[in-house]
Amino acid sequence: MKLSSSPLYTASQIQGRVEVLAEKLSRDYAGRETIALIVLTGALHFGSDLLRKMTVPVSIDFIRAKSYKGAASTGRVEFLVPPSLPLEGKHVVIIEDILDTGLTASAIVDRIRAEDPASVAICSLFDKPKCRKIELSGDYIGIELERQFVVGYGMDYEERYRELPDVYVLVDEE
Ligand code: XMP
Ligand code: MG
Repeated sequence: MKLSSSPLYTASQIQGRVEVLAEKLSRDYAGRETIALIVLTGALHFGSDLLRKMTVPVSIDFIRAKSYKGAASTGRVEFLVPPSLPLEGKHVVIIEDILDTGLTASAIVDRIRAEDPASVAICSLFDKPKCRKIELSGDYIGIELERQFVVGYGMDYEERYRELPDVYVLVDEE
């Protein structure tokens, strides 16, 4: 596998979308006690850029989920890093890099709901709605993609490419 010869989205195109999302969130979460829950590791850069552009107060926490896909497509999800802030009564915004089958985000939503927050929303930079295996929709989406695997800006293929500022498509060699 290798990278597409040019970026699918450049860093500055991404920042444009991030700004729009930050504006929407700032409007919707004004006056609410909000916790942004960044899903590690892929959403690290997105979350950091997004939260710096917000104009209302927001607490920051992290969650790390490991999903087991493969043969049993039930998509069991394990929480390697659970949230550390108390979420009860708070407005929680889950910050994801990409929604694919929807299994990870759905498991995270269930995990968060168990703590009785005031509300839960999903904010994802990328969304591949054609890849869903369960019904799930993001509340704040930056960019819709086709069925393609993308890397860069925090997203990886086997832990590579996260450091790239632009987003590329992963393509077959030759
Ligand atoms: P599901 O399928 O549970 O998966 O919605 C979401 C997680 O899968 C990873 N993922 C990707 N990572 N490029 C990546 O670097 C992609 O195109 C891609 N699609 C899914 C990602 O970790 C996401 O949180
Ligand atoms: Mg990943």
